[in-house]
Amino acid sequence: MIIGLDHVAIAVPDLEKAIKRFAEDFGIEYKGCESVVDAKTQTAFFPISGTQIELVHPLNGEGPVQGYLDKKGGGLHHICFQTDDVEADMKRLTEKGYIFLSDAPKPGAHNTRVAFIHPKCTDGVLIEIAQHPDEQH
Ligand code: CO
Repeated sequence: MIIGLDHVAIAVPDLEKAIKRFAEDFGIEYKGCESVVDAKTQTAFFPISGTQIELVHPLNGEGPVQGYLDKKGGGLHHICFQTDDVEADMKRLTEKGYIFLSDAPKPGAHNTRVAFIHPKCTDGVLIEIAQHPDEQH
C-alpha cells in the first residue's frame, strides 16, 4: 500500500553546485550524500515538509541518470512513493497492467528496497516505490 510521498528527485549535472544551491541559497537542511552502486547514482537528500528533495547524479559518468543528463541536461527525474510492502504493490500494479523496470525490488538509498514503473504507463512520469527497512514485513 502506498503510504506517502517519499521524495521528488532532480537530476543534476554538477552535484556540488546543486547541493550548495539547496543548502545555502534555499536554506533547506542537508541530510547528506549516499552512493547507490546498484543504480549507478550518487544521491543527496534534503528533508522538507514530511518529504524530501533528492538530487541524483551519475556515479562515474555512467548509468541511467547519465543517459538522462546527456539527453536533457538535467531536470525533474522521478517521484517516489513510500510503500509499506513493495512486493505486494509490484504484484498489485503488475496485475493492473503496469510495467516495472525490474522483476524484483532493488537496493535504494537509506537501505530501502525500490522499484520503478515504466514512464510509458504513467503519462511520461518515472515513478519509484520505496519500502524503508522499518516497514519490512
Ligand atoms: Co529516488
